[in-house]
Amino acid sequence: MDYVLGLDLGTGSIKGLLMNQKGQLVSSASSDYGLSTPAPGFSQQDPADWIKGANAVIAKLKENVADLKEHLVGISFSGQMHSLVLLDENDQVIRPAILWNDVRTTKQCQEIMEWAGKLVLKLTQNIALEGFTLPKILWVKENEPENFAKVHQFLLPKDYLGFYFTGNKQMELSDAAGTLLLDVEKKVWAEELAEIFELPKNIFPPLVQSTDLIGTIRPALAEKLGISSTTKVFAGGADNACAALGAGIVSEEIGLASIGTSGVFLSYEGEKKGHYQGKLHYFNHVLPNQYYAMGVTIAAGQSLSWFKKTFAPEIQFNELLQNVGKIPAGSDGLLFAPYIMGERTPHIDAKIRGSFLGMDARHTRDHFARAVLEGITFSLKDSQNLMTSVGKSFSKIISVGGGAKNPDWLQMQADIFNAEIFTLEAEEGPGLGAVMLAALGLGWFETPQDCVDTFVKYRTQHYQPNEKNVATYEKIYAIYQEVYGATKEISHQLLEQ
Ligand code: XUL
Repeated sequence: MDYVLGLDLGTGSIKGLLMNQKGQLVSSASSDYGLSTPAPGFSQQDPADWIKGANAVIAKLKENVADLKEHLVGISFSGQMHSLVLLDENDQVIRPAILWNDVRTTKQCQEIMEWAGKLVLKLTQNIALEGFTLPKILWVKENEPENFAKVHQFLLPKDYLGFYFTGNKQMELSDAAGTLLLDVEKKVWAEELAEIFELPKNIFPPLVQSTDLIGTIRPALAEKLGISSTTKVFAGGADNACAALGAGIVSEEIGLASIGTSGVFLSYEGEKKGHYQGKLHYFNHVLPNQYYAMGVTIAAGQSLSWFKKTFAPEIQFNELLQNVGKIPAGSDGLLFAPYIMGERTPHIDAKIRGSFLGMDARHTRDHFARAVLEGITFSLKDSQNLMTSVGKSFSKIISVGGGAKNPDWLQMQADIFNAEIFTLEAEEGPGLGAVMLAALGLGWFETPQDCVDTFVKYRTQHYQPNEKNVATYEKIYAIYQEVYGATKEISHQLLEQ
């Protein structure tokens, strides 16, 4: 039976997922790489490390799977978004890639919004944030003119990998949407923005769709890796979009709540456009002409790990959370706002800080642990709320990541989001979306839904909202929504001390 390979180029590692036509996992492998922080707020990686990682992953798969060469028919990618790769006229990398989590570009973001904020919002349907690509390009232009003068083209990480595999340079739409240079509705480069920011036309690569064939493996590389040079390579997608596809988010009434270090609440937007005025990220999806919106909680899982490290370093997470189910919804009046690293959605405020409110002599560590889980979930509800405020509703939410590991937290999600919560049988992450894009590109399935039905499996156990808790949480969430405004000035002042 034939195989497809999804390569997920993440921030800490590249993971390869090899699956067959029945949607079964054949083998997987991963390879780690580092990240450099040459100055505070800087975050960079050498694209050569991604290449080494990709080669190592394929070498491991080759060891594990004897008939890889005969049966690997398609490869596709999922990639960390926004990170800037600059190539010179000989296609050599000019400087280390500036990553999505690099925050050196505050000044450039302010300038973008001052000079062309309305147009940026109109065309890209997003506002300038430090993570996005345009501010990074402008930073290089301003601070490294000698490097900027050499720029022939810019790519994003997984598109650079696609170039390495095939020799063809292009940028795929779901990732191009995160550059702040794409007209997301027309699906063309926003030339007006390129003119305003004086970016040469040649730096923009041709645009392709996620399931587009971008070539076959370069013969020399195929030889080196021991795979066939007829293996087809498909463009792939942004990691968040791939994660959504890999969780089966292909219709409007299903949402995704993903709790890792940061948290994401994501909705499939179909063909609708332009509701959110930059309050949520709004990007092209990996399925043709479809969109998705997402909000980000900067410190989701991180709030819980911070809490454990600070107040219960000697125990494991399951022990810390073993009694949260015994504490009533609302933690007997204790409320946590998870702004320990600032916040992105809905407040976009790097200087807001977290708080516990309502502390009472009755409260135990279990109350605090529950309040932390509730606070993280309230923050994700802020994103869900922006979506429901324009008429969306969610019959189902798929929970993935750390938030899907604890049954009490899953019940809280059902009660706070007021929707049925489902989890995945095997969490393969964005790599599964990449596998599915290769499978769709090869024409294995007639519709994305058929592909989901084959590759995405949900656990039968799911979580129904409990009416009483839903009512309690509605009241407490209204109070939570007041916390940002009430603590903003105090937080900012404290930070300046
Ligand atoms: C999305 C974002 C991150 C990266 C992580 O806007 O910055 O989720 O995609 O790889």
